[in-house]
Amino acid sequence: MTASLATVAYIGSIILFILSLGGLSNPETARRGNLFGIIGMAVAVLATVLGPRVTPAGYAWIVGALVVGAAIGLIAAKKVQMTQMPELVALMHSLVGLAACLVGFASYVDTSTVFPTPAEKTIHEVEIYIGILIGAVTFSGSIVAFGKLSGKIGGKPLLLPGRHWINLAGLLLVVWFGREFLRAGSIDAGMVPLLVMTVIALLFGIHMVMAIGGADMPVVVSMLNSYSGWAAAATGFMLSNDLLIVVGALVGSSGAILSYIMCRAMNRNFLSVIAGGFGTGGGAPTAAAGGSEPAGEVSPIAAVETAELLREARSVIIVPGYGMAVAQAQHTVYEITRHLREQGVTVRFGIHPVAGRMPGHMNVLLAEAKVPYDIVLEMDEINEDFPQTDVAMVIGANDIVNPAAQDDPSSPIAGMPVLEVWKAKTSIVMKRSMASGYAGVDNPLFYKDNNRMLFGDAKKMLDEVLAALKS
Ligand code: TAP
Repeated sequence: MTASLATVAYIGSIILFILSLGGLSNPETARRGNLFGIIGMAVAVLATVLGPRVTPAGYAWIVGALVVGAAIGLIAAKKVQMTQMPELVALMHSLVGLAACLVGFASYVDTSTVFPTPAEKTIHEVEIYIGILIGAVTFSGSIVAFGKLSGKIGGKPLLLPGRHWINLAGLLLVVWFGREFLRAGSIDAGMVPLLVMTVIALLFGIHMVMAIGGADMPVVVSMLNSYSGWAAAATGFMLSNDLLIVVGALVGSSGAILSYIMCRAMNRNFLSVIAGGFGTGGGAPTAAAGGSEPAGEVSPIAAVETAELLREARSVIIVPGYGMAVAQAQHTVYEITRHLREQGVTVRFGIHPVAGRMPGHMNVLLAEAKVPYDIVLEMDEINEDFPQTDVAMVIGANDIVNPAAQDDPSSPIAGMPVLEVWKAKTSIVMKRSMASGYAGVDNPLFYKDNNRMLFGDAKKMLDEVLAALKS
């Protein structure tokens, strides 16, 4: 393939990636968006492999790597449960970071490139230094995020004494070693500051994510997404590959926008998220987390009585959460919705921006179950409607319906906007026990007079509710 044909193919795949991002912004066009992304990636890989920069001698290596990578990807996609998706995504971000580091070291030791001027050599070295820096932070941060999301590492924030000073010292050292790196007279001499900086960046990535509490994890997931994009863009600079630069910038900036949306959804300031310490995680009760423990008795309800309440209701709002994903209850939720709508009951869904464990988690599940998009509403669109609602049905959600976020300034999740289900005539919370949610905070909603607890696995309980509705 000639250089100009490869460039045309690159421009084509850039357009496809932009169309893909546009499509993914709406559930109705997401499938098409995905298809554009797949085609764009196929064109990009083909244009690169068959392009002028790869000699036939390299084909065997590339085909071998493609086969191994595709096999791992295929097995992972088939095996991974929907609830494990966030961990898988975190692991994939770590690979982008690792790739940036490896490409950085390979570019540095590669002596085949001749630089026409010393300035160009310096620019190339700056690209290498920054690329490895971003890559190492992304790599270690994503590995810790993977550990936290999969529960292998506790959600409790690690708050080292003087942690901001430690971060500042790390930053200053990175700048100083950067200077040493650029001044080095040989590859061997430059390798020392490069390796020291890599170790500092790896430690910084670990420290940064370890310091972040359970409730802030959504922001971290999108932030690492953004970092992985910048790491890819840095790799593009090192390899002088325009496509990788553009795609990396697209991922980096869309991840940054997502982080901003997540921060706004949780009423958090981006810098204070990075500073860490929000949400205790690890299932600790409220008192231990610094808040006052809610008191009172809970009122359990049976599936048959739940069906009775739903049958008598005129309006119902369903609030799904992580537990619906765990129980894979979305199809039964849809069956119940369809049945109630046929009986003339108005049923709508209220989606919190951080419900579940990844952005859009609930929307994906509901779309999979074929719930019509027009009854699935964002938190801001539906929150004012709870006072006019007969039944608010909470399915496996906890933190996103916690009134302590509004009422208890000492709560670890104080200030986070929540779905005000307790304002409905009756709220029903479906979960297996009194256990806390991801942020590890107790929930006063469970003790409210108009709240009922339907204890059990969400799928099992919803099956019983559906059977009772149909009988
Ligand atoms: P959570 O607050 O985590 O609550 C989920 C509840 O589901 C748990 O209390 C659990 O109680 C229940 N549950 C688990 N399995 C169940 C099953 N099989 N059947 C019925 N119930 C089940 O979830 P949420 O309300 O969706 O809030 C999301 C939380 O995750 C927030 O704190 C958010 O910050 C955090 N987070 C979100 C993201 C993104 S991007 N969305 C990423 C990382 C973290 P039982 O054990 O008693 O059943």
